[in-house]
Order: sequence, then structure tokens, then C-alpha cells
Amino acid sequence: MNNWNSRTKLVHAGTRRSQYGEVAEAIFLTQGFVYDSAEQAEARFIETGPDEFIYARYGNPTVRMLEERMAATEGTEDAFATASGMAAVNGALVSLLKAGDHVVAARQLFGSCLYILNNVLGRYGVEVTLVDGTNLAEWEAAVRPGTKAVFFESVSNPTLEIMDIAGIARIAHRVGALVVVDNVFATPLESRAVALGADAVIYSTTKHVDGQGRCLGGMILGTKEFIRKTVEPYLKHTGGAMSPFNAWVMLKGIETLDLRVRAAADSAKAIAEAIQGHGKLAHVIYPGLADHAQHALAASQMPNGGTLLALDLKGGKEAAFRFLNALRIFTITNNLGDSKSLVTHPATTTHSSLTDEARAVAGIGPGLVRVSIGLEDTQDLIEDVMKALEAA
Ligand SMILES: Cc1ncc(COP(=O)(O)O)c(C=O)c1O
Repeated sequence: MNNWNSRTKLVHAGTRRSQYGEVAEAIFLTQGFVYDSAEQAEARFIETGPDEFIYARYGNPTVRMLEERMAATEGTEDAFATASGMAAVNGALVSLLKAGDHVVAARQLFGSCLYILNNVLGRYGVEVTLVDGTNLAEWEAAVRPGTKAVFFESVSNPTLEIMDIAGIARIAHRVGALVVVDNVFATPLESRAVALGADAVIYSTTKHVDGQGRCLGGMILGTKEFIRKTVEPYLKHTGGAMSPFNAWVMLKGIETLDLRVRAAADSAKAIAEAIQGHGKLAHVIYPGLADHAQHALAASQMPNGGTLLALDLKGGKEAAFRFLNALRIFTITNNLGDSKSLVTHPATTTHSSLTDEARAVAGIGPGLVRVSIGLEDTQDLIEDVMKALEAA
């Protein structure tokens, strides 16, 4: 399996078959597992083998298939599946940190990630320093002996800034800090995060892995030591496990991840090129465009420019709302990574809890619209965006 290319791993890695030899992955919708004897139950609580399970909060065969498939694809030794992407972010950070530890994180983060850093970790005595994640000098100045972890989104939500994984990892590793990367926007497709120095990689599998807007889920990937000795004891006792049903949906979703993400990224690039320079737009942000501030870095870290773009409309909130309301194919929502194309106004939804000042620092102006490209016909999407821009 180690010699397989990513597309083959996405379809086959981690597959376990029951005694019936089913072709498609079975869903083991069970909370518990039967022991042949009291002695076997006792033994399993002392040491659980790879095909043995105790309770679905600890592990489940369907969930294990998804964990092994994603670990094989990501190139990590192990993985732990969680109930949502936020359960993964929380699980990775809280299981690792204790009072007195120091964390450095990029300030360009999804609102709930910022909540964990600003409102949760601090309450338990963890010191957090936020830096401009795109500025290596700020990382350098912030880390110190005693910095236990660094955390950042490799592509930031929603402004699509690219963090230099290798550069940040070099700085973090000098002081012995663990590099934890939220790779949601980059997607697991040909992820280079581990090769570039990430020690742990996190996904909201709610997004591109499901890919069809159905189930919540998350994944923490890393070394066997980190997953089994740090993450698992915390998560299995605090209840952040992924449901077997959701894991089964995602096992089918991930089979088509490569095809879906490539198709959506091709459309995203075509749309970005078609609307670049449009009179109603102050700026089109797309990492696959040559004018993106970190285009070269994006190209070195990702197989394509990604499935998301951000449009900055000239007329502020009013123009952004007119644009959103005029779209006919795109759906207004706060989600992303779906086969349906989706649009979000971050300032009034996903990032509305930030202060005006924090939003301004993060580059989330009133005219900014986040666009997640789906699998519809590219030309139809371009025409929909063009007509809505006229209406804006
Ligand atoms: C970058 C990033 N990380 C984490 C999450 C959280 O994922 P979930 O909604 O599955 O908890 C999101 C959700 O939008 C996200 O965009």
C-alpha cells in the first residue's frame, strides 16, 4: 500500500472486510462489542489489538477504516477521528497543553479556532501569543524555550493567506515546539504538510472529505506516539469521537476527493480569471492567480490553487448583499467544500463575533465575500457570477 499513489489510497487504504467479504465498506453501527469470555474482556482492557474494539467512544471498525485511509493518504503513522473539525482542533491542542505552557498561533484563524486559543486555553493557564502568520520574523520573535506548540491554518479562512509551513516548522522545531497545522482549505489532496515539517495535521472532514454537505467530522493525524499517548486518552474519555455513520458517509466521500477537488479547483481558477479586473471588484483573492501575494508559496505547498476564492466588492456591505442576493446557482450559507457552490459574507456571519478592529486587522472588510466552488458546469458558474456582479 505504501507504494500506491494518492488516488488509489483514497479508494482502498484502510479497508477491513467482515467474514461476509463485502465489497463496499460495512457500517458497524454499534456502540459496544461482545467478548467470548470474562477473561477476554479483561485482556482487551489491558491491551487492545488492531482488530479489537471496546466501545465506540474509544474506536469502531468503520471509524478505524477512515482513520487508516486518511493516515495513509496524509503520510502519517496514525490518526484519530473526531465528531467535528472543532473537536479535532480542541482535542489536539487541549490534550497536548497544560498550565504554564506557551503557544504561538497565527492570528488569521477561523473564529472558533480563535475562541479556543483566546477563551479556552487561557482559562487553564496556557499563554497564547498571536502573530501575523505570514511574517516569519514575527514567529521567530514569539517562540521561546517553553513554547510547546505552534498552530496555524495553512490557507487562512476567509482571506486565503498562505502560511509557509516549512519556514514556520523550522522556527518552531528550534525550540522543540510541536507544529500543528489546520489544513482544511488546502484539503487532504496531495497534502505536503508533513513533508514540509508539520507534526500534526487537522481536518474538518465536514468539508471536502464528505464533500456533499451531509455529516460533521474531523481528523487529527500524526505520529503513533502523539495520537495514542496524547490525543486518544483525552478524546476517548471526553467523548469527542466520530459517529460510525458519519465515518461511513466519509469513507464513500473520500473515494472521489481527488476528482472533486481537482474539478472544483479548475472551475475556481477559471472563475477567478474571468472576473479579475471587473469594475465592481476591488480585488479577487485566489492563490492560483499570479497576482496573489503568495502565489509561488501556494504553488509549492498545494497541487492547485484550491476550491475557494474571496471577492472584495467595491461598494461594501450593500454591494456584497446585492451580489449575494442576485446569484441563482450559488447558495448563501456559511459552509464550504460542498459539491454545491456556496457563498458567505464573513463580516456578518462566520466572523461577526470579532470586533470591528479585529476584522479590519484580519482583512475582513464589509465588501468581502467568500466563495466555495462546487461541481456545477464552469461556464454556468461564470455566467451566474457575472450577472450578480452587474446587479451589485
Ligand atoms: C479552517 C477551519 N478549521 C476548522 C473548522 C471547523 O470545522 P467543523 O465545522 O467541522 O467543526 C472550519 C469550519 O469552517 C474551518 O474553516
